[in-house]
Amino acid sequence: MTETENRVDMDEIVSLCKRRGFIFQSSEIYGGLAGAWDYGPLGVEMKNNIKRAWWRTIVQERDDMVGMDAAILMHPQVWVASGHVETFADPMVDCRNCQGRFRADEIEENRCPNCDAVGQFTEARMFNLLFKTFAGPVEDEAGVVYLRPETAQGMFVNFENVLTSTRKKLPFGMAQIGKSFRNEVNPRHFIFRTREFEQMEIEFFVRPEDAPRWHEYWMQERLRWYTDLGVRPEMLRLTAHAQADLAHYAAACSDVEYLFPMGWLELEGIANRRDFDLQQHSKESGVTLSYFDEEKGEHVVPFIIEPSAGVDRPLLAFIVDAYRQEEVRGEKRVLLKLDPRLAPIKAAVLPLSRNEKLVPTAREVWSMLRPHFMTSYDDAQSIGRRYRRQDEIGTPFCVTVDFDTLEDKAVTIRERDSMEQVRVPVDGLVEALRERLPPC
Ligand code: GAP
Repeated sequence: MTETENRVDMDEIVSLCKRRGFIFQSSEIYGGLAGAWDYGPLGVEMKNNIKRAWWRTIVQERDDMVGMDAAILMHPQVWVASGHVETFADPMVDCRNCQGRFRADEIEENRCPNCDAVGQFTEARMFNLLFKTFAGPVEDEAGVVYLRPETAQGMFVNFENVLTSTRKKLPFGMAQIGKSFRNEVNPRHFIFRTREFEQMEIEFFVRPEDAPRWHEYWMQERLRWYTDLGVRPEMLRLTAHAQADLAHYAAACSDVEYLFPMGWLELEGIANRRDFDLQQHSKESGVTLSYFDEEKGEHVVPFIIEPSAGVDRPLLAFIVDAYRQEEVRGEKRVLLKLDPRLAPIKAAVLPLSRNEKLVPTAREVWSMLRPHFMTSYDDAQSIGRRYRRQDEIGTPFCVTVDFDTLEDKAVTIRERDSMEQVRVPVDGLVEALRERLPPC
């Protein structure tokens, strides 16, 4: 697929996300804060669904993985050992004409992306992306701590704790979901590059000689995760980093890329981090981080394969990929064809009208569903418009309560994509929806 074939307009996605309560600009009433976004009532549901789907595949369903939840604030020496204090920096230039500040590696033809001035840039300077703050009441060097720029280090420094408490054998992995922070020079593309974001990271520990095989395995596994959740395979690709572009810790890295409206961009990186981190933390902390291989009778410092995904970028990709505009009986229908596991609302209960006989029954049906699924209730405007509203936010099923319901104690389930309708008894409604909704 060529770049021009991704027909979704990013402005439409941003507008839908705001209008329907997926994503808002942070601190909007104060003019917003660059690089920070807030997830609204639907956004938080979808984000939780993505995290749950990842945790289920990566931790719950595997026998070689355990979960973690480390603190965001860590000992400052962690970031010295990891190399972030020294090398976690992007080249930055200023435009002399408009005073805009940009990442030097993103400037094309020496032209300012803000004011179009050509050749007006200052020399590139390296800019460290770590957010710095102070722990405790005294704001001096001794109190400096950093907001973590990746969740990974919380797993490396707990290697010994996890190994001893779980008695895992190589190969095994740790998985963690949490916030990370980077003082990006140029946050952009909506939630694609922000200063505060979430990550879902795996650190998979293997014998050094097995690292290339596991690297290949995880690339395929991670691609499969996206397609299993409905992303069209032709919108995904793996791109290997050139040797010169590798991060300081990596022996090899490939990105899972998605064809966003602005082009092919990284969703997730899958790196072979070698034994860099365990060696560095052993050296800096004085605590040896290694594994005793009982079969071979030897100590080994494992290599690490790291599939490192964001949460926000995949969320954007899932929405972009699901977005459709169709014509139904001469009318435009906007549809989010989300996998039901990701859809924020699983079922919406809609009385045919606000008729006083229908509403109490419809509300009873809604109460019956609430303990089982994330649901909503809508009785404003015509039934057709309410179906469209649910289509637009990706709700896989609408449950309609009509005048026949009062007689036959049955409701209609309408399926989002096909718009097909089936009649089911109210008594069997929970079961009927359960059959249609994969567990998440
Ligand atoms: N531990 C390795 C690591 O953090 P990375 O490629 O820098 O690797 C992994 O980040 C993923 O985190 C990216 O693929 C992306 O999905 C997400 N990510 C990184 N920086 C981000 C940013 N500024 N805004 C949103 N997501 C970001």
